[in-house]
Amino acid sequence: MNLPAFETPPHRTTASEDAALARIRGWLSERCGIYYPARKDALLAQRLWRVARSFGHADLAQLSEALLSTSRTDVQLAVMHAASTNHTYFFREPEVLKSFAMTVLPDLARHGEIRIWSAAASTGDEAYTIAILAAETLGPEVLSRLRILGTDISEPVVARAEIGVFPARQFAQTDAAVLKRYFEPTGIEQYRVRDQIRATCTFRRMNLKAQPYPFSKRFNAVFCRNILYYFEQPDQVATLEAIYDSTEPGGWLVTSVTESIRDLSTRWQPVCTGIYRKPA
Ligand SMILES: C[S@@+](CC[C@H](N)C(=O)[O-])C[C@H]1O[C@@H](n2cnc3c(N)ncnc32)[C@H](O)[C@@H]1O
Repeated sequence: MNLPAFETPPHRTTASEDAALARIRGWLSERCGIYYPARKDALLAQRLWRVARSFGHADLAQLSEALLSTSRTDVQLAVMHAASTNHTYFFREPEVLKSFAMTVLPDLARHGEIRIWSAAASTGDEAYTIAILAAETLGPEVLSRLRILGTDISEPVVARAEIGVFPARQFAQTDAAVLKRYFEPTGIEQYRVRDQIRATCTFRRMNLKAQPYPFSKRFNAVFCRNILYYFEQPDQVATLEAIYDSTEPGGWLVTSVTESIRDLSTRWQPVCTGIYRKPA
């Protein structure tokens, strides 16, 4: 049976396809820190085939040629997006968020302007969760002095974060009263973040591999969750060190419970699970 072009199953059969995949894998690691071990070749090839088709390329060899030609930022952005895993949701990993609310937020309250960075923000669920936690813990007045920056390497997820409309499935871990207080229903099974929370968050595209980071003011706290395990160890350490340099003395780092950084010999001091601090 002949399948229409868009249904052609992804496949790698030739040596030139293998070589193209290896070249793209190398580019992703070098430029973005995103490491695909060889055992994930099938997944990577499937994701890249979609990009190849969308640009009208016949195979991954053509895609890799376009990718490696410096003028094709459109192809580069599409490959970065295709290679990234954007899974996220509101109130992810409540045990770390509880420590953040009990230990970190009361300390942050002493600052006139509170600057927090969600360093791999995906669609913004984490950034908006932080704003809601701050309002719930410190009172809604804090929102006027809260500045949250969400950054991600993938342009489409940054655009979605900016819009601030989320499907109901992103709220499976969100308390019903909190959902009602901070979101309004819109469209079918969707919720829009309310203005007072929306106003605290700004989103930008940014590659964590591009160091040092370009901030003129340092952050009081940085969330770096569910991203480090896509990086190889030297990139994990370099990222954590660059975040350290972008954090105020006495500032905080929040990681995922699944990504302990204790063995990575960085300058961060462990406080409790998922919470680290830069000495004052
Ligand atoms: C699994 S999501 C994590 C989202 C959120 N932090 C959380 O814990 O739910 C990982 C995000 O990291 C982004 N990412 C991957 N490589 C990156 C890089 N080099 N620089 C910035 N963001 C990157 C991906 O696009 C993806 O949206």
